[in-house]
Amino acid sequence: SLTPVILSGGSGTRLWPLSRQQYPKQLLPLVDQHSLLQETVRRLDGLDDIVIQPPIIVCNEEYRFVIAEQLRLIGKTGKIILEPFGRNTAPALTIAALAAIQEGNDPILLVMPSDHVITDIAAFQTAVHKGILLAESGMLVTFGITPDTPETGYGYIQYGTALHEPGTFQISRFVEKPDLVTAQNYLQEGSYLWNSGMFMMRTSVWLAAIDTCRQNILDACRAAWQPESVDGDFHRIDKTAFAACPGDSIDYAVMESLSTHPDTLPPGAIIPLSAGWSDIGAWDALWHTLPKDESGNVVRGDVLLQECYNTLAFSEHRLVACIGVNNVVIVETSDAILVAHQDKTQEVKHIVDTLRQKN
Ligand code: GDD
Ligand code: MG
Repeated sequence: SLTPVILSGGSGTRLWPLSRQQYPKQLLPLVDQHSLLQETVRRLDGLDDIVIQPPIIVCNEEYRFVIAEQLRLIGKTGKIILEPFGRNTAPALTIAALAAIQEGNDPILLVMPSDHVITDIAAFQTAVHKGILLAESGMLVTFGITPDTPETGYGYIQYGTALHEPGTFQISRFVEKPDLVTAQNYLQEGSYLWNSGMFMMRTSVWLAAIDTCRQNILDACRAAWQPESVDGDFHRIDKTAFAACPGDSIDYAVMESLSTHPDTLPPGAIIPLSAGWSDIGAWDALWHTLPKDESGNVVRGDVLLQECYNTLAFSEHRLVACIGVNNVVIVETSDAILVAHQDKTQEVKHIVDTLRQKN
C-alpha cells in the first residue's frame, strides 16, 4: 500500500505579508479556494487502483488545529505528527517512517512537500504509478522537472541509463543547491533535471538509507518517536530527544550520497515529470503560476488597475488602486502592505528578518 507523507514544517517567509509565523504559506488558499496543503492531499484523489493509507502529516505543533480543520473541510483524516521545532526534512521523514512501519507492514512512502502547485494531476498520477513499481523493487525514487533557469535553490539530478520501466532512469548524480556557475553549466549540459522535492521509497529502504548515511539522525528519531503518545489524530514526539537530533535535509543527508556510495545505498531512480510543477517560493512565482488577464495582471479582492501591466495586486481589506505601474507586486493586509518590484520579490525574506529582529 501507499502512505503519503506530507512535510509541512516550512514558514514561507518570502510570501509575507500573507504568510505569517502563525499562518505559513502552505495553509493559505493561494491558488484557488483550497490551501496548498489541501491541494496536496487532494492530488491523490482518483488513484483508485492503489490502496492509499490516510496521509501522515508532519508539522509544527503550532499549526495542529488549522491543519486538522483544513483536513476536515475536505473530508479527510490523517495522522498528524507534531514537531516541537523543525529539524529539517530528514528527521521529519524518519519520524514519519517510524510511524508508518509500526502498522506491521512496509508501505511505500510518497513524500510530498505541502507548498507546491501541480496543475496536471493526470500526469502526476501517471508518474506515481511508475514510482510505485520502482519503489517496490527497492529503489529511492525522485521526480525531475525540466529546468528553465539556473535556479540555485533546487537540487539538480543528472539522469543516467534508462530503466526497464518506460520513461524512468537511473540517477547518475544528485547535487543539492549548486552555486550559480555550476547551475548554469548543468543547464547547458542538458542531462540535469531539478529535483521536485517529492520522493518515493519503501519505508524500510528509507530507514536503512538514513541509518547508513546519518545514524545519529535515526537514533535520535527512534528515541523521540513515542507510538503511545496519541491524542485523536495528533501524535506527539519527545521534545528532549528530538532536541538532540541533528538537523539536515533529505537531499544533503541521503540523496547526494547515492552516487558517491553506490555500494552501501539503494539505487536511485528519476522519473521526469511534466505536470505544471511549481514551487511557490516567492510572489513572482505565484504571478507566473496564476491565470492572468490580457494585460498580464493577477488581481484578487478589491483592486482597481489603470494602465498597469504584469502586476500582481492582492487586497484583503481595503480598495487598492494603481495607475501606470508595471511588473509590481502589491499585497495589502489589515496590518501591512507590501509594494515590490517583481524582480526583487526574493528579498522579502530580508524584510521579514528585519521585522523579527525588531520584535
Ligand atoms: N515537518 C517538517 N519539518 N517539514 C519541513 C521541515 C521541518 O523541519 N523543513 C522543511 N519542511 C517542509 C517544507 O514545508 C516543504 O514543504 C518541504 O519540507 C521542503 O522543504 P524546503 O525548506 O522548502 O526545501 P527547499 O525548497 O529548500 O529544497 C527542497 O525542495 C526543492 C524543490 O522545491 C529540496 O528537496 C530541493 O532539492 C528541491 O529542488
Ligand atoms: Mg521549498
